[in-house]
Amino acid sequence: MQYQSFPEVRGDSRSQEKLKALRLPSLKDKSFLDVGCNEGYFCGYASFDGAARVVGIDRSAEAIGRARARFPECEFFQQSWDVLPEGPFDVILLASALHYAEDQAALIARLMDALTPSGTLVLEIGLADSGKNEWVKVKRSIDERLFPTRAKLREVLDPYAWKIIGHSVQQQGDPVGRIVVHVSRLKPFAVLVLGEPGSGKTTFCRRVFGGKDVPVIAGDVVYTWILQGKAKASETLATVVRESFETTRLSALTDRVFAEGLAGELFDVWCDLAGGRDFVLESYLPEVHHGRLKDHLEGRGYVPVMVNWSTEVSMAGAHEAAKRARGYTDALVRRFADQPSDRISVVRCAKRSARAASMRWHFDGPRHFQSLGSEPQLGVIGWVMPKELELIASIRCYVRGAGVNALHDLNAHRPDVVKAVLGNESEVPAAAVRCGFRFDVPAAAIGKGVEIGFVVDGEEVPAVKIGMNVRRDEPLDGLKRKLKAWRRLVWS
Ligand SMILES: C[S@@+](CC[C@H](N)C(=O)[O-])C[C@H]1O[C@@H](n2cnc3c(N)ncnc32)[C@H](O)[C@@H]1O
Repeated sequence: MQYQSFPEVRGDSRSQEKLKALRLPSLKDKSFLDVGCNEGYFCGYASFDGAARVVGIDRSAEAIGRARARFPECEFFQQSWDVLPEGPFDVILLASALHYAEDQAALIARLMDALTPSGTLVLEIGLADSGKNEWVKVKRSIDERLFPTRAKLREVLDPYAWKIIGHSVQQQGDPVGRIVVHVSRLKPFAVLVLGEPGSGKTTFCRRVFGGKDVPVIAGDVVYTWILQGKAKASETLATVVRESFETTRLSALTDRVFAEGLAGELFDVWCDLAGGRDFVLESYLPEVHHGRLKDHLEGRGYVPVMVNWSTEVSMAGAHEAAKRARGYTDALVRRFADQPSDRISVVRCAKRSARAASMRWHFDGPRHFQSLGSEPQLGVIGWVMPKELELIASIRCYVRGAGVNALHDLNAHRPDVVKAVLGNESEVPAAAVRCGFRFDVPAAAIGKGVEIGFVVDGEEVPAVKIGMNVRRDEPLDGLKRKLKAWRRLVWS
């Protein structure tokens, strides 16, 4: 009986049409196995397409004899598919033969086991027409065979990744429709979100993966886990992380990891944390390293999926931000040096009595060198706390100067001060919480100078003198030096 068709002989099956429908992947340099290969039509094609190894098996001695004669460059074995030739194979074909198997699901499982990790099983099969999940016995002209319904096929292929590629060529007298399915092993996905710092990676991951079961592994967090011993890393990698960890400059640490040839070890830490399951990697990684990461993930059995987008405004690097801030401070120094002064001076009173030493206070405002502005009143805000807490209720603030002589009660609750100064002392009198003051002083009085202090148990404790800082009298260089010193303090 002639089943397959060749240019010089026409068989029952339109082999060239079937070949088109199979949509085989490129077989160049691949290993190929045709199970139920008949006269070797598809093995011949694999050889033609450049496959490195081509094997065909069929239980029919006649078919194998003809196949060997046609394609001597291929390996043919007359044997049942109950035992498969030594593999693994990149591509396995089972065409128009599954219905001959006694246990069709078991044959599919066996073929899947014979694939390389990235291999593809190409199935060409008949599909019974029923809405149920069942094997349907179908009467054909020559015999009666079981064919799966779509639901049954879905169940059998559930442990794998699969796709129905399309219809196959029908054969005369076919009682069922034929389809082509490509099946491969299920692999975990590694979703790679590797954009620039500030590009919105964290927001994307939170919005898209936040509520899902897919863990998001953040590169910077992994560095802290390595530091804390929560993520297992080699001693060499852990040492580099310890030496170069700086929260604002993690990209420099990553650069060093790559420069020292430890990229693979870092990738392994990420993969180990994912534990062979789908995961999202959220980490800045310079583009030059993306290919390397993808290869590594594939080698570890993952399917890398790159998520890319572009942002118009992205965050400045830490180094760049610091440089710009310094430049701005320089500009401010230059600018103030040329402007008329309306600056307030706030100076602590020098006299330190025993009473003063038994108290703590702080003026939150006004601040030394603050601008007086055009408001008619200057707000004074602060707090005072005597060591002898019971005195607090008697304390008042006095303001004295040209045209002002005022007394103000403590009038503001400052639980923040109580916590910072007294800590968790359990016996804090309720009055102590009211240790803050907030009152206004006429701006006009500031020009001539005012003294502010406290009256405690009848005794005056001078605290600060507030006046105008006549900047024009101050040499320009002195001001610049002051501001530069301040800048050094902030940035050093
Ligand atoms: C309908 S033909 C399909 C041939 C080829 N796959 C094609 O599509 O052109 C089915 C083939 O499967 C082979 N076959 C059936 N049962 C088999 C088994 N248990 N082991 C190996 N081959 C088998 C038959 O000998 C036959 O050549």
